[in-house]
Amino acid sequence: MGLGDEHLRTDEAFDCIYPPPIERLSRPQWTPVTVAKRAAALLASGVGQSILDVGAGVGKFCVVGAVTTEARFVGVEKRDYLVNVGQAVIDRHQIERVELVRGDALSIDWSGFDGIYIFNPFGGDERSIRRAEEKLWELRPGARVVTYHGFGGLVPDVYRRLASDGDRVEVWQRRPARAMRLGR
Ligand SMILES: C[S@@+](CC[C@H](N)C(=O)[O-])C[C@H]1O[C@@H](n2cnc3c(N)ncnc32)[C@H](O)[C@@H]1O
Repeated sequence: MGLGDEHLRTDEAFDCIYPPPIERLSRPQWTPVTVAKRAAALLASGVGQSILDVGAGVGKFCVVGAVTTEARFVGVEKRDYLVNVGQAVIDRHQIERVELVRGDALSIDWSGFDGIYIFNPFGGDERSIRRAEEKLWELRPGARVVTYHGFGGLVPDVYRRLASDGDRVEVWQRRPARAMRLGR
């Protein structure tokens, strides 16, 4: 069945695929459609790529990414209820190349992903923030990271910032191994 262009025009049009209590959380908690489209395009440059959403909520970013790019999106979310609601919506609309996983995104291996999306999931939890900084070392050279409203920590200097939109959307790419040795 999928989602049509009409769902991607506005947040109101998109968010109505979720039950009303979840829809009401959209403005503070879920990525706006325009931002999700842009972030997904920045992360997914080709077919067969895998993108991880760290703290996926009901999977709004992942769903928008899967229907607007050719990549595969994996969203990891620690709150069971959000995973259940999000997966039901994915199943009902038969959206391909997207999977929601229940669990701690900081406990899974990030090394197999081509891109990571992080929308401020940790609040002020310093332990999670430090752990996320460490996890970014797992990605391979060339992998990209997009943050929206940051994640409270610093992206390691093995990454180069490619673009910044004020403090909201930032795009980083892990430097090639040779450039790291030369300090570029
Ligand atoms: C601001 S919401 C963003 C949701 C989604 N990425 C989006 O943009 O639509 C952050 C989510 O991260 C989840 N979260 C926070 N820490 C987490 C962790 N360590 N593992 C998995 N989920 C986490 C929260 O429960 C919340 O649903």
